[in-house]
Amino acid sequence: MSLARKSPIVLAILTLIGAASVWQAWAENDRVQFPENYKNGVHYATVNRGGVREELYTSPEAIAAAKRGDPFPDGTFIMMEDYRGDQLHRYVVMEKQKGWGEAYSESARAGDWEFREFAPDRSPNMSENGQRCMSCHQSEAGQDFVFTIDQMREE
Ligand code: HEC
Repeated sequence: MSLARKSPIVLAILTLIGAASVWQAWAENDRVQFPENYKNGVHYATVNRGGVREELYTSPEAIAAAKRGDPFPDGTFIMMEDYRGDQLHRYVVMEKQKGWGEAYSESARAGDWEFREFAPDRSPNMSENGQRCMSCHQSEAGQDFVFTIDQMREE
């Protein structure tokens, strides 16, 4: 007889362990999905740095919040297309969802944002777990972890 069939308590414990490993998977940063419709949002900036060109998109609601000086609404995504020369090199995306930051320690989290990188074919880069992205964006905690807020306000 299996352990689980022996006792409902053991079964409950096994269920909890299962739930904990789901939580762990979230902390490994696989929740941000490619925002397929990002071009229906607002193209709010182009950033040129050396041979890199970045095209930035977000939702009209996020632009409105930036202009009001409010935190970004839950559900906000920000898309950055990264071109090297005229070639699309990668996409980088940040997305804010209520409670997402709870998967991280207080010192590691960037509010409720998660970060993810996608290849030009829109498949996620599984070797980038987003912690590096988070730690650099933490410097912008005073403006909800977003660097290009001034460009949003000027939009
Ligand atoms: C070393 C610091 C640093 C790291 C690491 C970093 N970023 Fe950024 N990120 C920036 C800066 C600075 C900008 C503003 C645009 C610019 O100057 O290129 C930015 C802009 C962005 C934006 C546009 C919204 C905004 O904050 O202005 C997104 C989306 C973004 N980064 C996602 C990511 C993702 C995803 C990763 C990890 C794969 C990442 N970033 C890693 C510094 C960083």
